[in-house]
Amino acid sequence: MNPPLLQVKNLTKRFGGVAAVSDVSLDVMPRETLAIIGPNGAGKTTFYNMLSGRMAPTEGAIILEGKDITGQPPHRISRMGVSRSFQINNIFNEMTVRENVEVALTAYHRDSRRWANIASRNTPIQQEADAILERLSLSDLASRRAGVISYGDKRLVEIAMVLATRPHLVLLDEPTAGMTPDETHRVTALVNALATTGDYTFLITEHDMSVVFDVADRILVMHRGQKLVLGTPQEVKAHPEVRRAYLGDAEEEIAP
Ligand SMILES: Nc1ncnc2c1ncn2[C@@H]1O[C@H](COP(=O)(O)OP(=O)(O)O)[C@@H](O)[C@H]1O
Ligand SMILES: [Mg+2]
Repeated sequence: MNPPLLQVKNLTKRFGGVAAVSDVSLDVMPRETLAIIGPNGAGKTTFYNMLSGRMAPTEGAIILEGKDITGQPPHRISRMGVSRSFQINNIFNEMTVRENVEVALTAYHRDSRRWANIASRNTPIQQEADAILERLSLSDLASRRAGVISYGDKRLVEIAMVLATRPHLVLLDEPTAGMTPDETHRVTALVNALATTGDYTFLITEHDMSVVFDVADRILVMHRGQKLVLGTPQEVKAHPEVRRAYLGDAEEEIAP
């Protein structure tokens, strides 16, 4: 059996007296898609912030491909292959969709200081950008200004920019939030296709349970910073507390 891609050991983050993440341990296998669910305030974003290096854990360890990355700064962790979906306000609205992906690629190729000039002259980068856009079915939008495309398409461009950094571990924070059903379907199909055909491991937080059950190999249910359940979709669906809290189990809900 392969060693885990990611090992999280007793990870804890406290803000003053509040433990936003409390003693969470888990292994994520290469090419696995792990969904993280839980109500607002459960600690999902804080968990991501520690994995991506934006926040140092209060306690615990993060091991990526056998190396301890606990407390490393974001640029180091990103260079080691962990990429988190960019926020939409990181997209350059005045640039085309293709140029945005070129910027992400150029940054990856370490030329970030002069990205604009380099991107416009560098044919391999243009070709790589086109290949990524094609993979995401965004080729038709390549020459459009990013500022004028739909919200859902912008979120897909974000994912394109994530892939441009050649990640091993991709952290997606509610990738379908605010999307139409059609756009949501594109994202789930994309994650499933990338998980099957590419060398990607996904962590994905998501409120839409149909998305979770559509993409996840395993599901981590967080509650008040703690690991409530970690298991297959079937195991999580069958768990009484999860049914009550997140799956709208009406019978359980009215029980005392
Ligand atoms: N920077 C911060 N400072 C203080 N408290 C925070 C900070 N970030 C998150 N929290 C608290 O940590 C808990 C978990 O939040 P968060 O990780 O955002 O949960 P989720 O993403 O699951 O909604 C919440 O109680 C939140 O108020
Ligand atoms: Mg959150």
